[in-house]
Amino acid sequence: MVHLGPKKPPSRKGSMADVPRDLLEQISQLETIFTVDANKLKAIVEHFIKELEKGLSKEGGSIPMIPTWVMSMPDGKEKGSYLALDMGGTNLRVCEVQLLGNRDFDITQSKYHMPPGMKTGTSEQLWDYIAECLEAFLQSHHPDEALHELSLGFTFSYPCSQTAIDNGVLQRWTKGFDIDGVEGHDVQPMFEAALKRKNVPIHVTALINDTTGTMVASNYTDPETQMGCIFGTGCNAAYFDVVKNIPKLEGLVDLDPETPMAINCEWGAFDNEHVILPRTKYDVQIDEDSPRPNQQAFEKMIAGLYLGEIHRIVMLDLYEQGFIFENQSVEALKKPYSIDASLLSQIEEDPFENLTEVEDLFTTRFGIQTTEPERKLVRRLAELIGDRSARLSAAGVAAICKKKGIEKCHVGADGSVFNKYPHFQERGAQALAEIFGWHDLTPTQYPIKVQPAEDGSGVGAALIAALTAKRVNEGLPVGMKPEIIAKLSK
Ligand code: GLC
Repeated sequence: MVHLGPKKPPSRKGSMADVPRDLLEQISQLETIFTVDANKLKAIVEHFIKELEKGLSKEGGSIPMIPTWVMSMPDGKEKGSYLALDMGGTNLRVCEVQLLGNRDFDITQSKYHMPPGMKTGTSEQLWDYIAECLEAFLQSHHPDEALHELSLGFTFSYPCSQTAIDNGVLQRWTKGFDIDGVEGHDVQPMFEAALKRKNVPIHVTALINDTTGTMVASNYTDPETQMGCIFGTGCNAAYFDVVKNIPKLEGLVDLDPETPMAINCEWGAFDNEHVILPRTKYDVQIDEDSPRPNQQAFEKMIAGLYLGEIHRIVMLDLYEQGFIFENQSVEALKKPYSIDASLLSQIEEDPFENLTEVEDLFTTRFGIQTTEPERKLVRRLAELIGDRSARLSAAGVAAICKKKGIEKCHVGADGSVFNKYPHFQERGAQALAEIFGWHDLTPTQYPIKVQPAEDGSGVGAALIAALTAKRVNEGLPVGMKPEIIAKLSK
């Protein structure tokens, strides 16, 4: 009798038995360039820690490490009703949040689709559209009420230098936005001017990054949460540091060195100088063809906006070299950003060994008839891109934990890639285990857990508005003098 032991987990590679040698060679080359092994991950983490520290220094570095003026976690007793607005990459969401004072909340919300041209339209169009959505929200949820000035937590998730909790100078657009006249300016007055033009009785109490909101919201329901991450259209993280570890605040504020300060890392900018990340020629191409080349190097290898695009340009390259889709028209594949991360998810999730769902996808979406070996390559490529994204994300989480000396914590994570991309969470956890050497532990025992977050831009924004009001009542400083703006802006 042969003892077989526990069943091995099913191989994601599927069988490659019938794949011809030339395609196998291509698959093997893709595996080489897209795989980030444990040693490389550890090297990335060490470099990342240095870059996080550089970002906090007076001289600054590539990673902006922005003090957000969110200066405490909630205690769970926060109460009140708050408006929150989230300007994400794709949708606009308006919420009314009731904090119930016992780590509980109620939320009413409406979503508005951002018109496609808006990402590259004019600044006025953007602010007017947002003001109109708020107006529509108030009209449908508070019809015929005489509203007094309402305060709003505005989640504006782009790198903004903040000299106070209610302002933010946009350093640069990310996530494919390219609207003139906003970079280098404080977004709050522009937005409030639009609200005035439309007679919407609202003012901004707090300008919030989605990661900070996510951290605070998750800590509200789970006090073990010490970090907030977004893995969606873009990717980023926030955590709490203390003033003495933020040299760039020295001389600008008079705060006790132990005062906590939430930092919006804007880690998408990690390795903009290209010294450690294993970029492929495809990553270089994505960067060069993007509206902001040489920026967001880390984000461009991880975030949802780019995963499908990486897949598309690899396929086109292999087609042009004559390895796949012979005698097929690939016109539909030539359109930039025509594949999004959800298509990659569908490719990975095809349960059939002969990948018939992928076959249907390619015929209906692109008019391409695929052979089974081609589909196997296409699926393996999706796995490699998804796996690399999850593993690099884990390197970011590990770097913050190591920098802070955190050995055990929960990380609240949100975003379409984290929530919907197949295996992203398990792959990330596996990478953390490799980095920290948790060889004898099962995933449920891992001391650092990245888990689904509470709603950061709704509940988180409301909590931050509540915490700000509390600080004002307690007579603690809430922001800084305007002249500091120049010093913190980069
Ligand atoms: C981009 C933005 C950042 C945001 C992230 C996730 O990286 O610059 O502010 O947190 O996307 O939405």
